[in-house]
Amino acid sequence: MFRKTAFPTLLAICLMAISIHLKAQSYNTLWIPDTLSGTNFNLTIKDTFSQLTPGNQTITAGINGKIWGPTLFFNKGDTVHMNVHNKLNEATTLHWHGFHLPAVMDGGPHQMIPAGTTWQPYWKVTNNAATYWYHPHLHEMTEEQITKGIGGLIIVRDAVESALPLPRTYGVDDIPLVLTDRDFNTQKQFVVVPYGDSMMTNGTLRAEYGVPGQIVRFRILNGAIERSYNIGFSDNRNFSIICSDGGLLNAPVSVNRYLLHAGERVEILVDFSGQTGQSFDLKAYNSTLTGFIPGGENFVNGPFGNYLGHKDFNMLHINVVAKTQNPITAIPAVLTNNILLNATDADITRVLTISDSTGVTNPPILGPNAFIINHKLFNIDYNQYQVPLGNTEIWEIRSTSGFGHPFHIHDVEFNILSINGAAPPAAQAGWKDVVFIPRQQTVKFIAKFEDYADVLHPFMYHCHISLHEDEGMMGQFVVTDPSSATLEPIKRSNDIILFPNPASERLFVSFADPNMEAYYLRITNALGKTMYMLPRPQLAGGIDISHFSPGTYFVQVTDEKTKKVVSKKFTKV
Ligand code: C2O
Ligand code: CU
Ligand code: CU
Repeated sequence: MFRKTAFPTLLAICLMAISIHLKAQSYNTLWIPDTLSGTNFNLTIKDTFSQLTPGNQTITAGINGKIWGPTLFFNKGDTVHMNVHNKLNEATTLHWHGFHLPAVMDGGPHQMIPAGTTWQPYWKVTNNAATYWYHPHLHEMTEEQITKGIGGLIIVRDAVESALPLPRTYGVDDIPLVLTDRDFNTQKQFVVVPYGDSMMTNGTLRAEYGVPGQIVRFRILNGAIERSYNIGFSDNRNFSIICSDGGLLNAPVSVNRYLLHAGERVEILVDFSGQTGQSFDLKAYNSTLTGFIPGGENFVNGPFGNYLGHKDFNMLHINVVAKTQNPITAIPAVLTNNILLNATDADITRVLTISDSTGVTNPPILGPNAFIINHKLFNIDYNQYQVPLGNTEIWEIRSTSGFGHPFHIHDVEFNILSINGAAPPAAQAGWKDVVFIPRQQTVKFIAKFEDYADVLHPFMYHCHISLHEDEGMMGQFVVTDPSSATLEPIKRSNDIILFPNPASERLFVSFADPNMEAYYLRITNALGKTMYMLPRPQLAGGIDISHFSPGTYFVQVTDEKTKKVVSKKFTKV
């Protein structure tokens, strides 16, 4: 019996091995997010599972689904009402990235949605036609909640864009591409790290898609935690950039590479006419990036180690299929006529600094690895600027940091005036809400703050690398009506400063407020189990955490005088 079946069994095993091998090489069809349109939007955020790899369930979170969320269509001029249900087991926020709206509707760190509750912001859409997005923004939880998959695209339509002969059949010749990368552990679960080993396009690993043999529009979002993608096609073809973060460019800009940073969007037109039956790859040509651009570093090990660093890799395998009924076959020469802001109209120039934390004393930063704005960490109770309503302002971002950072501001779309003294490239000479600040360079942009004065509710500006943002590379401002403004009192901060974070050996704990003193310090794991109870701890030498297993932990401190308990998250690697 054994002898008789031995050969066929062996053959079956061989065939199985071959088919598993073939499967590992094969593509998955690009997932196209569902759409919602109208003026009332129901969004339910919850934890769930997704099958991302054969036979495995990955814990994810999604909006109205298993990962990511629906693409929302807004019409400029409409008032949109959002019903955001937080069915997670923790608080979150939902930020409408790029939208000009009242600060209290913005979904930044201040608009917290506790678990099990519903948040209902609404606003009049005044943004230009372009591609925007929504994502969690809870301070210190942004990286983790975006990693789980929470977010979605927003497509705004307006009269100018609608009048142009552009591809706009969603999922057919107008294709959304959300670029990100993820790290999977051996159980095929997401790991919260800045750089993943696996490219995911619209949440799809090794994505492929059929596009018609005509002019196709891709709406591309860099939704990564940290990585920039140097976009290009495997045949080195040129493509036309038609839209930046906040609106159409005056005219298409033809390039064969475009470097897209975290938070940025770009809409491109690609001509596949006469190429039906052929295949191409949309790739990230990241081997050409320097180590000072996110994704250009070549770290093999450690918290930043990943397989995709400083490499070229596929983002979408494209199969050109038959033309559609009424294909777009020409790229319009003119798109719009942007009236950009004029530097001579500026009321003020604000100089912001970006730097590395070494040597910073206010508050004391104990590790060498944080990046900071204006020499301080984010403090949710402190408004750095009061912007008078109606001001036109130049923001001059001077970086001494050894690394480049994508800088994002809420409330406004801006025009870049200069990057290291030079005019911005044509593809960035329109409306933007994220601008990359190359290492040790200065970038100037101009914006107008024309409405929504509110002394109580600030807007954010920050690095759009979620890791840096969570670590405190963020600040806030209020828009004030000079006719009624009163200075907001600066409240006492309860902020705990943890360094390094992620940490592996020793964790240094200090406090933003010099009057704060730890009466009791507790470290709990993600399940709430107490790992350490330290009465009146001596914190100068740090806390030994070398024996903790990797994961998320919380430091809970009871203040000596007030007996108030504050806590802060850190990651053990
Ligand atoms: Cu897309 Cu303040 O963020
Ligand atoms: Cu934003
Ligand atoms: Cu940064």
